[in-house]
Amino acid sequence: MTSPLHIDHAALDGRPLDLLVRGIAQLCTVHEPELDAQGPRRREGLGALGLAEDAAMAVREGRIVATGREAELVKALAAGAPVTAATRTVEACGRAVIPGFVDPHTHAVFGRWRQDEYERRVRGETYQAIAAAGGGINASVRDLRERGEDELYELATARLREMMAWGTTTVEIKSGYGLSLDDEAKMLRAARRAARTAGLDAVLTCLAAHEVPPEYRGRRAEYVRQVIDVILPRVAAEGLADRCDVFCEPTVFDLADSEAILRRAAELGLQLTVHADELEAFGGAALAARLGAASADHLIRIDGPGRAALAASRTVAVLLPGTVFTLGLRQYAPARDMVADGCAVALASDFNPGSCPILAMPLVMSIACSQMRLSPAEALVGATLNAAWALDRQAVAGSLAPGKRADFVILDGADFRLVPYRAAHNPVAGVFVGGQEIILNPA
Ligand code: NIG
Ligand code: FE
Repeated sequence: MTSPLHIDHAALDGRPLDLLVRGIAQLCTVHEPELDAQGPRRREGLGALGLAEDAAMAVREGRIVATGREAELVKALAAGAPVTAATRTVEACGRAVIPGFVDPHTHAVFGRWRQDEYERRVRGETYQAIAAAGGGINASVRDLRERGEDELYELATARLREMMAWGTTTVEIKSGYGLSLDDEAKMLRAARRAARTAGLDAVLTCLAAHEVPPEYRGRRAEYVRQVIDVILPRVAAEGLADRCDVFCEPTVFDLADSEAILRRAAELGLQLTVHADELEAFGGAALAARLGAASADHLIRIDGPGRAALAASRTVAVLLPGTVFTLGLRQYAPARDMVADGCAVALASDFNPGSCPILAMPLVMSIACSQMRLSPAEALVGATLNAAWALDRQAVAGSLAPGKRADFVILDGADFRLVPYRAAHNPVAGVFVGGQEIILNPA
């Protein structure tokens, strides 16, 4: 499918454009109106890019007015949304343009890195063994509790800026290293402020059910009550988060704990997401689907019934191959089976100091292609439009559809496939959020 001209006709009111991006050799709008009316992308639809060549994109007040072949676009807008002396023109100089990446799963607020644990894993210790010996999530909890909100805000702002330099324009940020009401609230406030300062759109998720904190050791049921009765109600009442997540694993929060927490969160008006079927297939994905969660994430061990449950639901399957890579595991999520079964597959970084210090979505795409056999086009849709669906941000982000926010990346080459192909190369020449330039390197 090639995309013709796409125009927001309501915007044709005679006022000039604010921005025209022209000279685009390959414009990947990831916008296919008929497919996109049906929900997140599945099966063959996962690789449909809404391509236009020799293209341009018109923007006003931060929103996309039109995309398509440049000559036709300029003519079609001449009366309704003209290019005037007031219009800024950005020359793409024969390079490709894609939507800004949407990273729907990060733990971007934390204190110190955990390279000590990385070294131990490289030597052969497992993630689980390190956690049982006092490392893992609880190492970051101890560290985070000692830091103030301002320090966490500074650290998070720098990390979000680094993400933007790799093309991310919408990000999800979880709490989960506080594990007390005050420390979770501190993390979420730091995250909100950091996103505002860095200038990207953030969806915030309360992950108080990330681990049982040390003061509740051996008293998991009591901590679950604390999350349900105290932490989530306050987080919701104070508007600190948009969503609730649970680390749903038999050894952390089992299915019954997870369901109780998620049901309470839904009552409080929070959207749901689940860390599911990462270490064992035990029904986390099916639980997410049954509760109408926006996403189920990780899914390394998902089985046939889990895939069928996701395929029959609106829950997006968010895959985190950077984690498998970093942990040096052999098994990746069965992405091809998931696509074949009709799951709506998306990609995220899982950026965190333990299992995945990778925050670059282009590298996540590379690993997804090389190790899980997604095609470059499927990986791009997974890292943009389907990722936006996973965050319920599909109305404003994830594709370059008329009316959406003008969040886009100018690549340093003329073909989007260079992104996964040149692993560990930063392919970003320019980043715009809401039509505003964040980065623009000369051609
Ligand atoms: O998504 N699985 C649980 N949480 C993170 C790891 C966080 C950490 O190790 O600090 C994850 O991989
Ligand atoms: Fe995670």
